Amino acid sequence: MQSLRRSTLNLSVINKQFVRSVGIHSTVVNNKEKTTHLKSWREIPGPSTLPLIGQTHHFLPGGSLYKIDNLGLVDLMYERYGPIVKFEGSFGSPTLIFLFDPEASAHILRSENLMPIRTGFQSLDYFRKEYNKGRRETNEFSGLLTDHGETWKKFRSTVNPIMLQPKTIKLYKNSLNEVAEDMVKRMKLLRNDKNMLEAKFDEEMNLWALESIGVVALGGRINCLDRNLPENSPEKKLINTIHQIFNVVEELDFKPSLWRYISTPGFKKVMKLYEDQVELSKFFIGKAVKQIESKGKNSTEEKSVLEKLLEINEDVALTMASDMLFGGVETAANTMTATLYLLAKNPEKQEKLREEIMSQNEKQPYLKACIKESMRMLPVVSGNLRQTTKEYDVLGYRIPKDMLVTFAHQFLSNREDQFPRSKEYIPERWITEKTDPVHHSNAHPFAFSPFGFGVRSCIGRRIAELEIETFLSKVMENFHVEWFGPDLKVKHTTLNYIVGPFNFVFKDVK
Ligand code: HEM
Repeated sequence: MQSLRRSTLNLSVINKQFVRSVGIHSTVVNNKEKTTHLKSWREIPGPSTLPLIGQTHHFLPGGSLYKIDNLGLVDLMYERYGPIVKFEGSFGSPTLIFLFDPEASAHILRSENLMPIRTGFQSLDYFRKEYNKGRRETNEFSGLLTDHGETWKKFRSTVNPIMLQPKTIKLYKNSLNEVAEDMVKRMKLLRNDKNMLEAKFDEEMNLWALESIGVVALGGRINCLDRNLPENSPEKKLINTIHQIFNVVEELDFKPSLWRYISTPGFKKVMKLYEDQVELSKFFIGKAVKQIESKGKNSTEEKSVLEKLLEINEDVALTMASDMLFGGVETAANTMTATLYLLAKNPEKQEKLREEIMSQNEKQPYLKACIKESMRMLPVVSGNLRQTTKEYDVLGYRIPKDMLVTFAHQFLSNREDQFPRSKEYIPERWITEKTDPVHHSNAHPFAFSPFGFGVRSCIGRRIAELEIETFLSKVMENFHVEWFGPDLKVKHTTLNYIVGPFNFVFKDVK
């Protein structure tokens, strides 16, 4: 245990220098520039450090960054230090380099696009590779979130054709439509006399997302939308477990913590949560496997991702199914909530969308544009991460191999110089003429990447898009969505969580 946990320390080298030296919007260094002009990564500006405790004091009561949320932190760092900022690791947390420059981001992401490494989930990594090793279905793979190199490549190339081809994913349209219809029925039943849902809205969206990913991943219905579902049902337990995991990993994986040396209460808690997630997923996957076996070979039903993968590689199938239930719930649910909120705040856009949906035209470009625009403004993941596999020269600094670099795409996609009128919800920017000043082509291509980049980008992208398009269409057909009171609040942790109060009103479309 100790050796693996301690190895993370390689990334956190103590730096005592603090220099502000780069101009905003400088870009990747010219290859011809003499390398002697480059500064060491140790000189990248960032909050000052103290011996042993690094930058921890800034985050303690009285410190300038005390209780600041991630997004506020990112804005402040850019303002203070410019387009490249260093966060020193301490107590085993890794040193992180933040890039706020799209061209520099493009340079690294493109060069890392053969077998990119995205570490960062240290506690999940530890759980899968050490803590739970003997109990795993397979010791060859730990899953896409935690595997790297050739193991990741073998896994990813097995699942890519089944999970990423739009044509293949479209085959789940009818099942997802049934889920969407049932969710709308449920919403109607949950409405009170003010047309608001008598339920926790975020939990409702999670139930819809779990039911949706369930039909694609496992085939058949999980039955999350059953109104009599008890609080201690496996469905609700799985949702709560995943929610808690994403909330605690931020503290454990990206902030200084002693768990890398001793078993802290936080460490014990997250190991138990990961264990519960594995057990609960096994429960659902086990049921699905039995159904597949009983169905017989001649069934005409569309095969689930699990069934298709079982025909190729059982280890991949079981590991991927579990990761779909893990990665596919909060992400889709929060994206859906953000889209509903932005449409509620922009009734004329909502009306335009409803017209397109009611037209039943096969192509629905405005629907896609509405979702894209909400991901630009309120993406569920704020940045992408890579561990460099080689040395880079960017923005006047030499970044060595094995550094963790974060690409702050949410920061970029909300900037006026990338997306004019960036604070306004303008789905049209994704479909208008190129000559329109708000057209998205005015932005750098790396200023918008809610699903990540390249061969390591989100494997659930096509599924999530279809789920959201299908459900959003059903909601628009049935409800005028309104919002009252203060603006929606977002808690920025590992994911951007939309938190209550959820002041949605759902009035019937007559
Ligand atoms: C709107 C919904 C979603 C968003 C915004 C989202 C976003 C992301 C992002 C930003 C990454 C990192 C990509 C990179 O490093 O370049 C990622 C990876 C991943 N996502 Fe999603 N995701 C969503 C839905 C889903 C769903 C539905 C699933 C499950 C089917 C899923 C499973 C995964 C997995 C397993 C990875 C790791 C891929 C790899 O490393 O090869 N995601 N996602």
